[in-house]
Amino acid sequence: MPNRPYVIDEMISAKSIAARIEGLAKEIKREFAKTDKLVVVGLLRGSFVFIADLVRELDLPVEVDFLEASSYGDAMESSREVRILKDLRGQIEGRDVLVVEDIVDTGHTLSHVTEYLGTRHPGKLKTIALLDKPSRREVDFRADWIGFEIPDEFVVGYGIDFAQRNRNLPYIGKVRFT
Ligand code: PRP
Repeated sequence: MPNRPYVIDEMISAKSIAARIEGLAKEIKREFAKTDKLVVVGLLRGSFVFIADLVRELDLPVEVDFLEASSYGDAMESSREVRILKDLRGQIEGRDVLVVEDIVDTGHTLSHVTEYLGTRHPGKLKTIALLDKPSRREVDFRADWIGFEIPDEFVVGYGIDFAQRNRNLPYIGKVRFT
């Protein structure tokens, strides 16, 4: 439990998120128009709200799968290592894949996950992140689609937690310690 009192200020409203997802879904539908059945992979746990809203805007045949990568916690920045804690249930060889992430921060998670999935020889392998904090990047990685580029703020909600709390906020908020 967070041991300092805090409040959450709204940063991106539920309405803005929904509008942005509608726009992103149009681009994604164009990209995968010829795909037989797209595999949409959510990275647990933070992406669960975003993937739910995104797939419902994609009127394409999709299969939904999940993967969980370890968070590296307090590890030294230079030795950040990402491990796969829960693997996909389905096969992706020869299939088009869209990896869905809530936020790209240092870039280690998505960069490792795409490298890992790439070894399984998928067809197209694309990535989408709702939020991007480019100022925090430690590895050269950019998602194919980004919902919102944000400054280096402590954000929560819409799937993103603060010490496992606040994931169920319908908007993206900014934590302010009081
Ligand atoms: C967060 C977030 C991303 C990752 C981004 O996950 O959901 O997966 O960190 O950070 P990076 O770009 O620096 O790698 P977290 O490990 O907190 O797990 P969670 O998704 O279960 O909340």
